[in-house]
Amino acid sequence: MTMKIEDIGRAVRETQYAVRGPIVARAQALERAGRSIIYCNIGNPQSLGQRPLTWVRQVLALCEYPEVLASVPEGTFPADVIATAKRVLSESKHGLGAYTDSRGYAFVREAVAQFIRERDGIEADPETLYLTDGASKAAQAVLRLLIDDARDGIMIPIPQYPLYSATITLYGGAMIPYALDEKAGWALSRETLERAVEDAKARGVKPRAIVVINPGNPTGAVLHEANIGMVLGFAARHGLTVLADEVYQENLYVPGDKFVSFAKVLETRGLIDVSLFSFHSVSKGFLGECGHRGGYVELRNVPAPVRDELTKLQSVSLCANSVGQIVTYLMVRPPRPGDPSFECYDRERRDILDALKRKARLLVEGLNAVPGILCNAVTGAMYAFPSLTLPPGVTDAQYCMALLEETGICLVPGSGFGQAAETWHFRATILPPMEQIQAVVEQIAAFHVKFVAERAAEPEDEPVPRPAPRGRKITPA
Ligand SMILES: Cc1ncc(COP(=O)(O)O)c(C=O)c1O
Repeated sequence: MTMKIEDIGRAVRETQYAVRGPIVARAQALERAGRSIIYCNIGNPQSLGQRPLTWVRQVLALCEYPEVLASVPEGTFPADVIATAKRVLSESKHGLGAYTDSRGYAFVREAVAQFIRERDGIEADPETLYLTDGASKAAQAVLRLLIDDARDGIMIPIPQYPLYSATITLYGGAMIPYALDEKAGWALSRETLERAVEDAKARGVKPRAIVVINPGNPTGAVLHEANIGMVLGFAARHGLTVLADEVYQENLYVPGDKFVSFAKVLETRGLIDVSLFSFHSVSKGFLGECGHRGGYVELRNVPAPVRDELTKLQSVSLCANSVGQIVTYLMVRPPRPGDPSFECYDRERRDILDALKRKARLLVEGLNAVPGILCNAVTGAMYAFPSLTLPPGVTDAQYCMALLEETGICLVPGSGFGQAAETWHFRATILPPMEQIQAVVEQIAAFHVKFVAERAAEPEDEPVPRPAPRGRKITPA
């Protein structure tokens, strides 16, 4: 007899990940049937036409096939690309086809430490760095450490990136949602955090850690130093570990805004009693190397025995993929002014970030021009998360499915990220090329007006279940 679905663990069956959920599955089916689809559901830059940085791909090409180094005619690759490829090959000792240390290549961890020192002006220790298959695996490893049973509570923002809700469900922990204030530009307040902790304790959940995504996905909001200090003070008071998801640290769009890391605020405030795990990735920023699966987690104030457990966990899967580790190296060790590759690198970097900034504005302005759609400014990350006024009985999931069927635009309903009761949203990435963003906005506008008018005219049949009220366990659906 073959397996039945009931043979699968309950936690797996209950785990949901809307970013690649039923609407995306339908989009793929439509595409196979010949429809043209615009995938605005996921922050996957190169799938939407973003070109990889020449710097990254030239070094990788040489590292993957070192024979080229011996035979390539002079001038084919810039000298710094060749020197970097040679360094990678000599430091990695056996080339990229061999397993690495479980924590990742030592020379890459040292380069990441140097990147943090230069970014934040603080000390950083390669011994407290782990290279991972993207930030996802790092976050999952840390949650694995923290969750032992159903009373272990992890505070997550609402709305949040569903990696967190999915992983907490998978590991059998409890979500402690804390609401971001949409009307105040998705601000994070101490009162909300305190209330969330109280609610959790009242239902027998023990708060263990708090996840903060900065810049925010899906909100696009950027935290400033005072907010970060507030979160760290709150964590200290409640004995919480902090998980700082900083994968969008290069994606800031408001002139004058500067990314401030949790590590920097922790160190400058001398908070030695808060354990911090900070995540970064090669998938976002201006590299967009999602498929290469590179990233790292940095640990601060994490005692050696806990670090050893993390090392053990990493060693169970042997190591992160070697190419992703090298892409991480190339992210944290880019060409410097005066290097042969610098001009090209800098031009490509600026072109990508400038375009993202323009597209963020275009998308938000376009959406805000539609009656019934209200969108906060996208000040960071790669997404707009507007609220929708929908006729009674209609959900954002139904809206997104209907939009897909009619226009071929694939969005993720707000319910996939969690949202305040009585509100509906969708998430759209700002990544499609400029002309497509324009078309997306026009098509959404036309669809919205028609959809709302038609649905409002229909008699309401079955009552639609509303999202759980704030403060209760929210399982994104
Ligand atoms: C907030 C956030 N964290 C982590 C990730 C996962 O990144 P990675 O590709 O490095 O696993 C994403 C991907 O979209 C994200 O938005």
